[in-house]
Amino acid sequence: MSGDPTIAVIVAVASNGVIGRDGDMPWRLSTDLKRFKALTLGHPVIMGRKTFDSVGKPLPGRLNIVVTRDHDWQAEGALAVGSLGAALELATAHLESFEPDPDAPDAEAPNTIFIAGGGQIYAQAMALADVLHVTHVDAEIDGDTVFPAIDPAVWEVTREEHVPAGEKDSHPTRYVVWERA
Ligand SMILES: NC(=O)c1ccc[n+]([C@@H]2O[C@H](COP(=O)([O-])OP(=O)(O)OC[C@H]3O[C@@H](n4cnc5c(N)ncnc54)[C@H](OP(=O)(O)O)[C@@H]3O)[C@@H](O)[C@H]2O)c1
Repeated sequence: MSGDPTIAVIVAVASNGVIGRDGDMPWRLSTDLKRFKALTLGHPVIMGRKTFDSVGKPLPGRLNIVVTRDHDWQAEGALAVGSLGAALELATAHLESFEPDPDAPDAEAPNTIFIAGGGQIYAQAMALADVLHVTHVDAEIDGDTVFPAIDPAVWEVTREEHVPAGEKDSHPTRYVVWERA
């Protein structure tokens, strides 16, 4: 595939910015996990080593790229790199050598690299991202890891969907796509 890839941040964030607590997510959002899967399947997904540890295994059907300073770190099914820049290079090379299946679930967002957290990686990725897929949890939640504020001078809403809490969701949410204004 040719052309610059789209760099997409994907996150679920509380109204006070919280995204994590004690190495895990401070909510249960099954509906959102299904959207995460549908959006990211077939794409390279970049995450920090702590987020990889929290998930505990590679995300199936996606190229898992893990950012770590530990040169000895390895995990089956994941590629380790030493910086976010190196992760983006690797993901771009993967997309360039990849012939997409027109029937694949990623047909809606071809040529996209997803950045899936956590807090440290999001903070470094905001300046590089083209689009933010944000699931807003409209509640203040206790936590220890946050997402940077989304500056309305930089980002505008291009899509918004209210998602009622399903049986396996602890909160109703708003799924919002933000693009550079
Ligand atoms: N709500 C959401 O959508 C969402 C999504 C993802 C994660 N989370 C939550 O976020 C929390 C984890 O976030 P976190 O901020 O603690 O950790 P993180 O961003 O997942 O990972 C941090 C690790 O990434 C590596 N790293 C970071 N910057 C680097 C750089 N410039 N160069 C090389 N390596 C670098 C380091 O790994 P080493 O220590 O191995 O060197 C660092 O310890 C968890 O609670 C998780 O559940 C929430």
